[in-house]
Amino acid sequence: RKKVTLNTLQSMYKRGEKITMITAHDFPSAHVAEHAGMDMILVGDSLAMVALGMEDTSEVLVEEMLLHCRSVARASSRAFTVGDMPMGSYEISPQQALSTAIRFIKEGRMSAVKLEGGAEMAPTIRAITTAGIPVLAHIGLTPQRQNALGGFRVQGKSKESAKRLLRDALAVQEAGAFAMVVEAVPQEVASFITGLLKVPTIGIGAGSGTSGQVLVQADMTGNFPPGRFLPKFVKKYGDVWGEALRAIESYRDEVKGKSYPAEEHTYPMAREEVEAFVG
Ligand code: KIV
Ligand code: NA
Repeated sequence: RKKVTLNTLQSMYKRGEKITMITAHDFPSAHVAEHAGMDMILVGDSLAMVALGMEDTSEVLVEEMLLHCRSVARASSRAFTVGDMPMGSYEISPQQALSTAIRFIKEGRMSAVKLEGGAEMAPTIRAITTAGIPVLAHIGLTPQRQNALGGFRVQGKSKESAKRLLRDALAVQEAGAFAMVVEAVPQEVASFITGLLKVPTIGIGAGSGTSGQVLVQADMTGNFPPGRFLPKFVKKYGDVWGEALRAIESYRDEVKGKSYPAEEHTYPMAREEVEAFVG
Protein backbone atom coordinates (compact mmCIF):
# COMPACT_ATOMS: atom_id res chain seq x y z
CA ARG A 1 0.00 0.00 0.00
CA LYS A 2 1.45 3.27 -1.15
CA LYS A 3 2.07 6.10 1.29
CA VAL A 4 -0.58 8.81 1.24
CA THR A 5 0.92 12.16 0.21
CA LEU A 6 -0.51 15.59 -0.52
CA ASN A 7 -0.72 14.48 -4.17
CA THR A 8 -2.71 11.39 -3.20
CA LEU A 9 -5.15 13.54 -1.22
CA GLN A 10 -5.42 16.06 -4.04
CA SER A 11 -6.24 13.34 -6.59
CA MET A 12 -8.83 11.73 -4.29
CA TYR A 13 -10.39 15.18 -4.00
CA LYS A 14 -10.30 15.74 -7.77
CA ARG A 15 -12.04 12.47 -8.56
CA GLY A 16 -14.62 12.97 -5.80
CA GLU A 17 -13.39 10.17 -3.57
CA LYS A 18 -14.12 10.99 0.07
CA ILE A 19 -11.05 11.45 2.27
CA THR A 20 -11.14 9.45 5.52
CA MET A 21 -9.53 10.83 8.66
CA ILE A 22 -9.55 9.69 12.27
CA THR A 23 -7.72 10.71 15.41
CA ALA A 24 -5.15 8.55 17.16
CA HIS A 25 -3.22 9.32 20.30
CA ASP A 26 -0.79 6.47 20.79
CA PHE A 27 0.81 3.48 19.07
CA PRO A 28 -2.15 1.04 19.35
CA SER A 29 -4.83 3.55 18.32
CA ALA A 30 -2.71 4.58 15.32
CA HIS A 31 -1.95 0.96 14.46
CA VAL A 32 -5.62 0.03 14.23
CA ALA A 33 -6.45 3.16 12.20
CA GLU A 34 -3.60 2.31 9.84
CA HIS A 35 -4.79 -1.30 9.47
CA ALA A 36 -8.32 -0.05 8.75
CA GLY A 37 -6.94 1.95 5.82
CA MET A 38 -7.54 5.50 7.03
CA ASP A 39 -6.13 8.08 4.59
CA MET A 40 -5.21 10.55 7.33
CA ILE A 41 -4.44 10.21 11.02
CA LEU A 42 -4.79 13.26 13.23
CA VAL A 43 -3.10 13.52 16.59
CA GLY A 44 -5.82 15.86 17.80
CA ASP A 45 -5.52 17.92 20.94
CA SER A 46 -8.75 16.10 21.90
CA LEU A 47 -6.26 13.64 23.39
CA ALA A 48 -6.21 16.04 26.35
CA MET A 49 -9.64 14.67 27.24
CA VAL A 50 -9.68 11.15 25.78
CA ALA A 51 -6.14 10.12 26.74
CA LEU A 52 -5.02 12.44 29.54
CA GLY A 53 -8.29 13.01 31.44
CA MET A 54 -8.12 16.80 31.23
CA GLU A 55 -11.25 18.98 31.34
CA ASP A 56 -10.64 20.59 27.96
CA THR A 57 -7.94 20.98 25.32
CA SER A 58 -6.50 24.26 26.65
CA GLU A 59 -4.38 22.43 29.23
CA VAL A 60 -2.30 20.20 26.97
CA LEU A 61 1.34 21.20 26.37
CA VAL A 62 3.39 21.07 23.19
CA GLU A 63 5.76 18.57 24.86
CA GLU A 64 2.82 16.30 25.72
CA MET A 65 1.46 16.51 22.16
CA LEU A 66 4.91 15.68 20.78
CA LEU A 67 5.25 12.51 22.89
CA HIS A 68 1.91 11.29 21.53
CA CYS A 69 2.78 12.34 17.96
CA ARG A 70 5.98 10.28 18.04
CA SER A 71 4.15 7.16 19.19
CA VAL A 72 1.50 7.63 16.49
CA ALA A 73 4.14 8.21 13.82
CA ARG A 74 5.74 4.83 14.61
CA ALA A 75 2.50 3.05 13.64
CA SER A 76 1.59 5.18 10.62
CA SER A 77 3.26 3.78 7.53
CA ARG A 78 0.62 4.62 4.90
CA ALA A 79 -1.62 7.29 6.44
CA PHE A 80 -0.80 10.99 6.12
CA THR A 81 -0.17 12.25 9.65
CA VAL A 82 -1.21 15.62 11.06
CA GLY A 83 -0.29 17.02 14.48
CA ASP A 84 -2.67 19.45 16.19
CA MET A 85 -0.84 22.50 17.55
CA PRO A 86 -2.25 23.15 21.04
CA MET A 87 -3.75 26.37 22.32
CA GLY A 88 -1.06 28.93 23.12
CA SER A 89 1.61 27.46 20.85
CA TYR A 90 0.89 29.42 17.64
CA GLU A 91 -1.32 32.49 18.26
CA ILE A 92 1.32 34.98 19.39
CA SER A 93 3.04 35.45 16.03
CA PRO A 94 3.75 33.66 12.74
CA GLN A 95 7.30 33.14 14.08
CA GLN A 96 6.04 31.40 17.19
CA ALA A 97 3.72 29.26 15.04
CA LEU A 98 6.53 28.33 12.66
CA SER A 99 8.87 27.25 15.44
CA THR A 100 6.11 25.13 16.98
CA ALA A 101 5.30 23.63 13.56
CA ILE A 102 8.97 22.73 13.05
CA ARG A 103 8.94 20.86 16.38
CA PHE A 104 5.89 18.86 15.24
CA ILE A 105 7.86 17.76 12.16
CA LYS A 106 11.30 17.20 13.74
CA GLU A 107 10.31 15.89 17.17
CA GLY A 108 6.71 14.76 16.57
CA ARG A 109 7.57 13.09 13.22
CA MET A 110 4.32 14.36 11.69
CA SER A 111 3.79 15.12 7.99
CA ALA A 112 1.73 18.26 8.61
CA VAL A 113 0.30 20.48 11.35
CA LYS A 114 -3.22 21.70 12.12
CA LEU A 115 -4.18 25.02 13.67
CA GLU A 116 -7.52 26.62 14.49
CA GLY A 117 -8.79 29.91 13.10
CA GLY A 118 -9.87 31.69 9.94
CA ALA A 119 -8.84 34.83 8.09
CA GLU A 120 -6.91 36.19 11.09
CA MET A 121 -4.58 33.18 10.88
CA ALA A 122 -3.76 33.67 7.18
CA PRO A 123 -0.30 35.25 7.74
CA THR A 124 0.54 32.43 10.15
CA ILE A 125 -0.55 29.73 7.69
CA ARG A 126 1.50 31.50 5.02
CA ALA A 127 4.62 31.53 7.23
CA ILE A 128 4.37 27.80 7.96
CA THR A 129 3.58 26.67 4.41
CA THR A 130 6.36 28.91 3.03
CA ALA A 131 8.78 26.95 5.24
CA GLY A 132 7.59 23.75 3.52
CA ILE A 133 5.29 22.44 6.23
CA PRO A 134 1.77 21.54 5.08
CA VAL A 135 -1.02 23.13 7.11
CA LEU A 136 -4.49 21.73 7.74
CA ALA A 137 -6.69 24.67 8.74
CA HIS A 138 -9.68 24.32 11.10
CA ILE A 139 -12.67 26.64 10.81
CA GLY A 140 -16.23 26.80 12.12
CA LEU A 141 -16.40 25.58 15.70
CA THR A 142 -12.84 25.94 17.00
CA PRO A 143 -12.79 24.23 20.43
CA GLN A 144 -9.59 25.99 21.57
CA ARG A 145 -11.59 29.24 21.44
CA GLN A 146 -14.62 27.87 23.27
CA ASN A 147 -14.50 30.63 25.87
CA ALA A 148 -14.70 33.35 23.21
CA LEU A 149 -17.31 31.44 21.21
CA GLY A 150 -19.50 31.06 24.30
CA GLY A 151 -19.19 27.27 24.41
CA PHE A 152 -19.53 24.52 21.84
CA ARG A 153 -22.02 26.02 19.42
CA VAL A 154 -22.90 25.37 15.83
CA GLN A 155 -21.28 28.02 13.59
CA GLY A 156 -22.54 29.55 10.35
CA LYS A 157 -26.23 29.35 11.24
CA SER A 158 -27.08 32.94 10.33
CA LYS A 159 -26.45 34.64 7.01
CA GLU A 160 -23.77 36.86 8.60
CA SER A 161 -22.05 33.96 10.32
CA ALA A 162 -22.17 31.85 7.13
CA LYS A 163 -20.60 34.70 5.16
CA ARG A 164 -17.83 35.00 7.76
CA LEU A 165 -17.22 31.25 7.47
CA LEU A 166 -16.92 31.52 3.68
CA ARG A 167 -14.44 34.40 4.07
CA ASP A 168 -12.43 32.28 6.51
CA ALA A 169 -12.43 29.31 4.13
CA LEU A 170 -11.23 31.40 1.18
CA ALA A 171 -8.60 33.14 3.33
CA VAL A 172 -7.02 29.95 4.68
CA GLN A 173 -7.05 28.42 1.20
CA GLU A 174 -5.39 31.53 -0.21
CA ALA A 175 -2.79 31.39 2.59
CA GLY A 176 -1.78 27.92 1.43
CA ALA A 177 -3.67 25.45 3.63
CA PHE A 178 -3.79 22.09 1.78
CA ALA A 179 -7.22 21.34 3.30
CA MET A 180 -9.42 22.49 6.15
CA VAL A 181 -11.41 20.88 8.92
CA VAL A 182 -14.92 22.35 9.01
CA GLU A 183 -16.53 21.69 12.39
CA ALA A 184 -20.15 22.01 13.53
CA VAL A 185 -21.64 23.85 10.57
CA PRO A 186 -25.04 23.30 8.89
CA GLN A 187 -24.77 20.89 5.96
CA GLU A 188 -26.00 23.47 3.42
CA VAL A 189 -23.29 25.96 4.41
CA ALA A 190 -20.48 23.37 4.47
CA SER A 191 -21.54 22.00 1.07
CA PHE A 192 -21.81 25.46 -0.46
CA ILE A 193 -18.35 26.44 0.81
CA THR A 194 -16.87 23.12 -0.34
CA GLY A 195 -18.19 23.81 -3.82
CA LEU A 196 -16.37 27.14 -4.02
CA LEU A 197 -12.96 25.85 -2.90
CA LYS A 198 -9.99 24.31 -4.74
CA VAL A 199 -8.84 22.37 -1.66
CA PRO A 200 -10.65 19.64 0.30
CA THR A 201 -12.89 20.23 3.31
CA ILE A 202 -12.78 17.60 6.05
CA GLY A 203 -16.07 17.77 7.88
CA ILE A 204 -16.98 16.95 11.46
CA GLY A 205 -20.58 17.75 12.25
CA ALA A 206 -20.79 19.45 8.85
CA GLY A 207 -22.97 16.98 6.93
CA SER A 208 -22.24 14.80 3.94
CA GLY A 209 -21.26 17.45 1.39
CA THR A 210 -17.65 17.94 2.52
CA SER A 211 -14.67 16.35 0.72
CA GLY A 212 -13.96 14.06 3.66
CA GLN A 213 -14.87 13.25 7.24
CA VAL A 214 -13.03 13.14 10.56
CA LEU A 215 -14.08 11.70 13.92
CA VAL A 216 -12.42 11.29 17.30
CA GLN A 217 -11.51 7.61 17.50
CA ALA A 218 -12.44 7.13 21.17
CA ASP A 219 -15.91 8.52 20.40
CA MET A 220 -16.65 6.47 17.29
CA THR A 221 -15.30 3.18 18.68
CA GLY A 222 -17.25 3.68 21.91
CA ASN A 223 -14.12 3.73 24.07
CA PHE A 224 -15.69 5.60 27.00
CA PRO A 225 -17.92 4.73 29.96
CA PRO A 226 -21.71 4.85 29.67
CA GLY A 227 -23.37 8.20 30.26
CA ARG A 228 -20.77 10.42 28.64
CA PHE A 229 -22.14 13.25 26.52
CA LEU A 230 -21.58 12.79 22.79
CA PRO A 231 -22.17 15.53 20.22
CA LYS A 232 -25.05 14.96 17.77
CA PHE A 233 -22.69 14.27 14.86
CA VAL A 234 -20.86 11.31 16.44
CA LYS A 235 -21.90 7.85 15.29
CA LYS A 236 -20.87 5.16 17.76
CA TYR A 237 -19.65 2.30 15.55
CA GLY A 238 -18.42 0.06 18.36
CA ASP A 239 -18.30 -0.67 22.08
CA VAL A 240 -14.61 -0.89 22.85
CA TRP A 241 -15.12 0.20 26.46
CA GLY A 242 -17.80 -2.46 27.00
CA GLU A 243 -15.53 -5.15 25.54
CA ALA A 244 -12.55 -4.10 27.70
CA LEU A 245 -14.80 -3.98 30.78
CA ARG A 246 -16.16 -7.45 30.05
CA ALA A 247 -12.64 -8.86 29.62
CA ILE A 248 -11.26 -7.29 32.80
CA GLU A 249 -14.29 -8.35 34.86
CA SER A 250 -13.89 -11.95 33.64
CA TYR A 251 -10.21 -11.86 34.59
CA ARG A 252 -11.07 -10.53 38.05
CA ASP A 253 -13.75 -13.22 38.55
CA GLU A 254 -11.44 -16.04 37.40
CA VAL A 255 -8.59 -14.97 39.67
CA LYS A 256 -10.92 -14.64 42.66
CA GLY A 257 -12.59 -17.97 41.72
CA LYS A 258 -9.19 -19.66 41.18
CA SER A 259 -9.95 -20.80 37.63
CA TYR A 260 -7.20 -18.63 36.16
CA PRO A 261 -4.41 -19.44 35.55
CA ALA A 262 -5.30 -22.95 34.33
CA GLU A 263 -2.94 -25.79 33.34
CA GLU A 264 -2.45 -24.40 29.82
CA HIS A 265 -1.22 -21.05 31.16
CA THR A 266 1.57 -22.52 33.33
CA TYR A 267 5.11 -23.68 32.52
CA PRO A 268 5.74 -27.41 32.92
CA MET A 269 8.67 -28.91 34.84
CA ALA A 270 9.84 -32.56 34.71
CA ARG A 271 8.53 -34.63 37.66
CA GLU A 272 12.05 -35.68 38.83
CA GLU A 273 13.14 -32.08 38.85
CA VAL A 274 10.10 -31.05 40.85
CA GLU A 275 10.75 -33.84 43.40
CA ALA A 276 14.43 -33.02 43.60
CA PHE A 277 13.60 -29.39 44.22
CA VAL A 278 10.57 -29.60 46.51
CA GLY A 279 12.05 -32.63 48.28
O1 KIV B 1 -8.63 17.50 18.38
C1 KIV B 1 -9.30 16.87 17.53
O2 KIV B 1 -9.52 15.66 17.65
C2 KIV B 1 -9.79 17.61 16.36
C3 KIV B 1 -10.69 16.92 15.39
C4 KIV B 1 -11.99 16.57 16.00
C5 KIV B 1 -10.83 17.67 14.13
O3 KIV B 1 -9.44 18.76 16.22
NA1 NA C 1 -8.36 19.72 17.96
